[in-house]
Amino acid sequence: DWTMAEFRKTKIEEIRAQVGDGKVICGLSGGVDSAVAAVLIHEAIGEQLTCVFVDHGLMRLNEAEQVVTLFRDHYNIPLVHVDAEEMFLTGLAGLTDPEKKRKFIGGAFIDLFEKEAKAIGGADFLAQGTLYPDVIESVSFTGGPSVTIKSHHNVGGLPERMNMQLVEPLRELFKDEVRELGRELGLPEIFVGRHPFPGPGLAIRIPGEVTKERCDILRKADAIYLEEIRNAGLYDAIWQAFAVLLPVKTVGVMGDARTYDSVCGLRAVTSTDGMTADVYPFDASFLTGCATRIVNEVKGVNRVVYDYTSKPPGTIEWE
Ligand code: XMP
Repeated sequence: DWTMAEFRKTKIEEIRAQVGDGKVICGLSGGVDSAVAAVLIHEAIGEQLTCVFVDHGLMRLNEAEQVVTLFRDHYNIPLVHVDAEEMFLTGLAGLTDPEKKRKFIGGAFIDLFEKEAKAIGGADFLAQGTLYPDVIESVSFTGGPSVTIKSHHNVGGLPERMNMQLVEPLRELFKDEVRELGRELGLPEIFVGRHPFPGPGLAIRIPGEVTKERCDILRKADAIYLEEIRNAGLYDAIWQAFAVLLPVKTVGVMGDARTYDSVCGLRAVTSTDGMTADVYPFDASFLTGCATRIVNEVKGVNRVVYDYTSKPPGTIEWE
């Protein structure tokens, strides 16, 4: 009979055996997976672990602060917080191709990470919150390993460059099991239950060029949408819900004035592992309520649409 308490114990022994007295570096994304991996590894090897949070400025509203608070205050686990918003926005300026955006972000992450690893005198191991679906996604869904649907963002490439081995204690787990392990490790519910968030962050939810202004607009719309979902008691029934900001302007009317502003798309899906997904069937009145609030409260948006595409043929993210 397999329990999370036993899994935790077994993994801690395995991590100690693998790492010995080596040094481990772990990148936090703000998501559940890397947080659970980091807390578990910290429990196993304490100070031998350094956690690095590269804040690319492409996080959801207040998310960066929540990560820092969780590690520093809740767990008292030391955390290197790299504020790299300007660097990422500068590099993203002028980029509109989805793969170019993804590749720039992935590459910049690796560079910053390598710099932080060197700053602590190098590391022998790189810890990642890789899950079982991550291990198989590249081959199972695309119809063959030669087809790249999207360049997934992780720190791949870095281990070879820095001569590091991988520590991936969650490799056998599905998302719901990682959440259970997170609870077992005492992570707050707001963190454990959080919807998945992609490594490249809001950059892939802003088709076209990413700017600070567009990130701020999207953060506001997204926060309103999620607040409405939480208030309706629907958050936990949904795998992932988010807003996207389209590079399309349309005409509207506010009071007796003409507006000419951006379109905001809303997405919500159910899924068990992100590999396939169904559209969440909100009541029409729920969606009109969200649309009204977003248009009234977010300057720069004057129209809201809902995405009715399942995966396949759509992907969950828009880029
Ligand atoms: P797609 O859009 O491919 O997304 O249907 C499937 C799941 O993966 C997440 N996603 C990512 N996660 N790095 C990540 O860590 C990425 O580059 C990335 N791209 C997509 C997406 O949010 C969804 O949960």
